[in-house]
Amino acid sequence: MTKIAELNEISLQIAAELIKNNGTVVFPTETVYGLGANGLNSDACKKIFAAKGRPADNPLILHIAHIEQLAELTMEITETAEKLINAFFPAPLTLIFKKSQLVPDIISAGLDSVAVRMPAHKGARRLIELAGVPIAAPSANLSGSPSPTRAEHVTADLDGRVDMILTGDTGVFGIESTVVSLLGDYPVILRPGTITLEMLREVVKGTELDPSLLKQSQTLKPLAPGMKYKHYAPKAEVYVISEHYTQAEIDTIVSDFKSKKILVINENAESLAQNLYAHFRRADKDGYDIVLVKAVKAEDIGLAVMNRLLKAANYKLL
Ligand code: TXA
Ligand code: MG
Repeated sequence: MTKIAELNEISLQIAAELIKNNGTVVFPTETVYGLGANGLNSDACKKIFAAKGRPADNPLILHIAHIEQLAELTMEITETAEKLINAFFPAPLTLIFKKSQLVPDIISAGLDSVAVRMPAHKGARRLIELAGVPIAAPSANLSGSPSPTRAEHVTADLDGRVDMILTGDTGVFGIESTVVSLLGDYPVILRPGTITLEMLREVVKGTELDPSLLKQSQTLKPLAPGMKYKHYAPKAEVYVISEHYTQAEIDTIVSDFKSKKILVINENAESLAQNLYAHFRRADKDGYDIVLVKAVKAEDIGLAVMNRLLKAANYKLL
């Protein structure tokens, strides 16, 4: 049985007890819902992989409530890391460090690194604080479906598969955190998000982008294992329409698909970040065959949106 409760101080206490006892709890963050468990216990983390049907080669993010928790999880906090932490934490930003012995192998999926994030969401931080351990949490969807940004997305995927679901606002972002590797000389964005390349470069000039992020390639292998999967996709076929098309041209494209049931999405980058996953889930629920999404400029938050969108479309552009 899954307990479902609105996030408040009482439900947080219950949820924290569950985490301490190596159970699983879904909780909102400022990006998407997370499926959490005690990040220092392998058996607890196994339950996350089982509940999601997640491949074992995809590592998990450890969520912390206080910056001091970083030291024991990592081998070294470099000057560059400190700059980013001071500039952004708590934030929708995940940083990758060389891992310490304390981090179970199941978290890092065999890599010698660990991803850590301090969420901006107060309720999420309170849960971590009450649990007294870092909380491992991937997005709270079944592997292969879009990340959940609304409580009903979580219950559709995970009711009956986890111990507790805390419902509440996921905040304003709607797209997963920016993942940045600190293993090389300069920070490298492995997954674009709300903390943008432009924002990171203001703090550390040399910040780079994983070259595999915006194009389909046989030779470029994404540095974040999770980015190689075709997530974020609805069952309907997704096409990206060039940002230069006019409404009349879009209407012609739609009429070319004739008898198909088509959802057309034409929104700005901010609104797409917030709503894209909800649109994808709605497309499945309402039985659309095709989803056409008008492209946005791949800059600022638009970079994260286009990354998710092109993956969902399998790089099909019209
Ligand atoms: O906003 C978010 O980041 C949400 C909320 C719940 O915090 N979490 C989330 O987790 O999106 P998940 O597991 O769905 O995505 C984590 C991504 C995956 O692509 C994974 O491969 C990558 O981060 N990752 C985790 N640890 C890594 C590591 N040590 N090295 C490289 N990539 C890593
Ligand atoms: Mg995910």
